[in-house]
Amino acid sequence: MNTARPVALVTGSSSGIGAATARLFAQRGWHVVINYARSAEAAERVALDCRNHGVDALVVQANVAEDADCRRLAEAAESEWGRIDALVNNAGTTRFCAHDDLEGLSAADFHDIYAVNTVGAYQMVRAVAPAMQRANTGSVVNVASIAGVRGFGSSIAYAASKGALITMTRSLARALGPALRVNAVCPGFVRGEWLAQGMGESRYQAMVEHLEATTPLGRVCSAEDVAEAIVYFATGAPLTTGETLLLDGGTHLGRL
Ligand SMILES: NC(=O)c1ccc[n+]([C@@H]2O[C@H](COP(=O)([O-])OP(=O)(O)OC[C@H]3O[C@@H](n4cnc5c(N)ncnc54)[C@H](OP(=O)(O)O)[C@@H]3O)[C@@H](O)[C@H]2O)c1
Repeated sequence: MNTARPVALVTGSSSGIGAATARLFAQRGWHVVINYARSAEAAERVALDCRNHGVDALVVQANVAEDADCRRLAEAAESEWGRIDALVNNAGTTRFCAHDDLEGLSAADFHDIYAVNTVGAYQMVRAVAPAMQRANTGSVVNVASIAGVRGFGSSIAYAASKGALITMTRSLARALGPALRVNAVCPGFVRGEWLAQGMGESRYQAMVEHLEATTPLGRVCSAEDVAEAIVYFATGAPLTTGETLLLDGGTHLGRL
């Protein structure tokens, strides 16, 4: 079925930033593909929220580390609606490990994290590019991280995977223009389960309070803040490609 409405495919949209992004696209009248790896029920709940805005939402299980899954995900959107206008590479994973604990990370940890955060994004771009090239338009937004800019975050492997994603954003923007625009958002500390679970509740709360007291904008990022920036790249910014937008309330500027 072909549709007049634009279509967004958001990987890892069963929770957090991906779910907020899918909801915002739906609110703006886009059909959405909700993707999850393990959390089927959560994905169905997000789809219901989206449908309540009067659009269609397709729920597809796929592991972005698997190329065949990425191609199946793109094919599901194309066969449902005949178009893909925006791809949001949001699916991500990490392993929490102190940066000075060099024995704490194995080669397998690096490979597992890269397989999702970096290679997964590449595979998804490759899967959707033909549809976007046929339409001669399309926007890819990669969800990187301030970790990839400043070299901190949950682990060195995670920061390196996001740094690679930022570099890849530039390479793909050059390679795929003029039809496709490829940009990245780099959230800082985002409120939510990802960090609450990874850091433990008391360290997480202490960090929220510290950031609220020291960040120039006086608050930490929410999933909805990130969604706004993603949708901006997808629906506006027609002359912007290969760009990275930092969303950390100004933390990267340091303190007076
Ligand atoms: N939270 C932060 O502070 C922060 C800061 C900067 C950047 N980010 C980035 O933002 C993105 C979203 O994070 P979040 O905070 O919203 O975390 P989240 O709530 O844990 O969401 C992660 C999503 O990714 C999906 N996912 C994980 N592995 C996948 C795979 N192999 N294939 C497909 N989907 C997969 C999960 O699906 P299932 O539940 O089904 O596994 C879930 O929908 C990540 O790329 C993360 O690196 C987060």
